[in-house]
Amino acid sequence: MRLAILSRAPRSYSTRRLRAAAADRGHDVKVLNTLRFAIDLSGDAPDLQFRGRQLTDYDAILPRIGNSITYFGTAVVRQFEQMDVYTPNTANGIANSRDKLRATQILARHDIGMPPTTFVRDRADVIPAIERVGGAPVVLKLLEGTQGIGVILAPTIKVAEAIIETLQSTRQQVLIQRFVTESKGRDIRALVVGDRVVAAMRRTAQGDEFRSNVHRGGSVEAVTLDADSERVAVRAAQIMGLKVAGVDMLEGNDGPLVMEVNSSPGLEGIETATRLDVAGAIIDYIDDQVAFPQIDVRERLSVSTGYGVAELVVHGDADLVGKSLSESGLRERDITVLTLHRGTTVIPNPKGRETLHAEDRLLCFGRLEEMRSMIPARPKRRARVKRLPKEPLPEE
Ligand SMILES: Nc1ncnc2c1ncn2[C@@H]1O[C@H](COP(=O)(O)OP(=O)(O)O)[C@@H](O)[C@H]1O
Ligand SMILES: [Mg+2]
Repeated sequence: MRLAILSRAPRSYSTRRLRAAAADRGHDVKVLNTLRFAIDLSGDAPDLQFRGRQLTDYDAILPRIGNSITYFGTAVVRQFEQMDVYTPNTANGIANSRDKLRATQILARHDIGMPPTTFVRDRADVIPAIERVGGAPVVLKLLEGTQGIGVILAPTIKVAEAIIETLQSTRQQVLIQRFVTESKGRDIRALVVGDRVVAAMRRTAQGDEFRSNVHRGGSVEAVTLDADSERVAVRAAQIMGLKVAGVDMLEGNDGPLVMEVNSSPGLEGIETATRLDVAGAIIDYIDDQVAFPQIDVRERLSVSTGYGVAELVVHGDADLVGKSLSESGLRERDITVLTLHRGTTVIPNPKGRETLHAEDRLLCFGRLEEMRSMIPARPKRRARVKRLPKEPLPEE
């Protein structure tokens, strides 16, 4: 295949290893500086120029987008997606993983264990927020920090408040997160490629430091993950839309707690610790997937008028329970079931003989009008409404 590695650091360990792994396997590989692309929207079709010249055809890209160029870098990746060039990590996936708040919001919906986290803006809400996650000591995180920079352990509520106020005064937003004491300066980095963990290591912080990042002097050792941690790491990467990811987890008392999902994981620490050919696994995966460029299913399938994708839930009291898919009448109503989700298992392209259970979730393609009547009513939550101040606040 023809592969472009998008990177501004051609001489870094990771880029060198990826390029060598691709070349060793007989692929035609180039490292292209992400910042030298021009996104061309002037012609009939989306296009790209590189260093002022028309870009030649590539089968796949491997984005290694640094934190400081997320906006431009994801725009370049998105342009490749528009041109149907395969990328293991989508622009959306990269952008989602870059913002700790956004990532936490997305993962929280999917029942992935995470340290209790909150986010507030108003001074008056800071102390209750800290108390909600379990009080001091408490971890504060800048939304876009990396390599441990911007992750602070505040020993008391007073100090936490002072730090948050200082950061907010410089227009920086912080997440408030429970300090997971039982992980004792250790965490797990799982390298996910496709639907498996290809390598994993434990990082241990140096001395009295609580951050175990290699850049903060943490030491590394290979580990074999238990099945639960492995499943959580793979799901977290998939939910984020990343096929190549470094998933960081704390070892909580009740199982793994995901802290973050990195879209350009460094390879040096993990290859050194595990002696595994992670770069080779990434290249082989891309080679396998090249025929399947990422498409936004919802966007594409909604183009045909009146049809779209929706998730239907089999209600406990509905007459669908106990029936097979072919008896369900869905097909007759022009509804095709793409996947069936039952608890944490997923059945793709379920057969007609598959029996429906209560609480099964069916991802369907069909006539929106037909599906509307079957979409579950949103659970009504009793909103806890704050009392309005006597004087109306000026609009912000
Ligand atoms: N809630 C927490 N409890 C205990 N340790 C934590 C917590 N959050 C982060 N850490 C430690 O700090 C390190 C850096 O945090 P992380 O969220 O991964 O930020 P970064 O993007 O800077 O790596 C982690 O690897 C872990 O060792
Ligand atoms: Mg980290």
